[in-house]
Amino acid sequence: KPLPASSLAARKEGYRYFMEKEIYEQPRVLADILTGRLGEQAVRLDELEADWLRPISSVTLCACGTSYHAALTGSYLLERLARVPARVEIASEFRYREPVLDPNGLFVVISQSGETADTLEAIKLAKAQGLATLALCNVDNSSIVREAERTLLLRAGIEKGVASTKAFSAQVLTLWLLALYWGQARAVLSGERHARELTALRAVLNVMQVQPRVHERLHRLSKRYLHGHGFFFIGRDLFYPLALEGALKLKEISYLHAEGDPAGEMKHDPIALADAELFTIALMARSTFYEKVKSNVEELSARDATLIAITTEDFELADDIIQIRPYDHPMLEFFEMLVVVQLLAMEIAIRLGNDVDMPRNLAKSVTVE
Ligand code: G6P
Repeated sequence: KPLPASSLAARKEGYRYFMEKEIYEQPRVLADILTGRLGEQAVRLDELEADWLRPISSVTLCACGTSYHAALTGSYLLERLARVPARVEIASEFRYREPVLDPNGLFVVISQSGETADTLEAIKLAKAQGLATLALCNVDNSSIVREAERTLLLRAGIEKGVASTKAFSAQVLTLWLLALYWGQARAVLSGERHARELTALRAVLNVMQVQPRVHERLHRLSKRYLHGHGFFFIGRDLFYPLALEGALKLKEISYLHAEGDPAGEMKHDPIALADAELFTIALMARSTFYEKVKSNVEELSARDATLIAITTEDFELADDIIQIRPYDHPMLEFFEMLVVVQLLAMEIAIRLGNDVDMPRNLAKSVTVE
């Protein structure tokens, strides 16, 4: 029996959509994830043991959709912090291409629902080849959790919006913890680097707190970007998966064309599309190759592309700047920009009159291939 509208509204706790509520919930989710895991000197993950991880020689991360973008982000973190070779796979491709896997490798699947058919089959395949398996999943006792040897539950709470927001930030934070924990087990990080990661982890909750100033700005800006023939989200390094996720969020709920590209790839083809009706969202992180991204963006600007820069800097070529706070750690910039791209997608979609919680043609959980 459908719930009366009033009680549905009550569950949104005053927010217009579940998606909005879930974006605002993110600091609480991140706090839950860190509970009991962030010590003075080290990260603890009681679900794993250092002895279990130590013999592992490589990691393959496998997922679909938004979870795939978390996997890609995780591959940067795992190589950087744990110094293990990491590769990333889209589950639907992986299954059928007769993959050659490292028998001493760890196979990590990432899934909000724990029921995505392709991801489930991928973990079965890796298990059949004798790999150790780990699931990052939001639903306990889901099919994927039952299949996995070990599980890190995401602690994001029920996610109702079809467009994943808090589950994504939970996945990325959990992967960051995993990378650091693994780096500790392998003793590959300098004391200084390790301390820097712990300090950044302690700051992450505040970063994800939605700032009313930023939300208001995005609400106002969104009306300028309802037409045009497409959006490019561009970034480098960790901000490349974020560019992919920003584009995916926008596509899912606005039905406008959007793509994410590595900023350094612009000149290899996407630049052919550049004109004033192409809206480029440039993820210009101070911490990460700022000058390089800037020069990629300058090339687009020379071709008259309309530029929206998400940055701490003053960038005179930008048509619009969304100012973020300065941080000295890339993951803090990552999480702050994540909130911006989530809210931007939502505000554009709401202006277009779409139901952002129930986008057309999409399902929350894809249990058939
Ligand atoms: C569907 C959802 C996406 C999700 C993807 C993977 O396409 O609409 O939001 O990212 O499935 O789902 P999973 O539950 O495996 O993370």
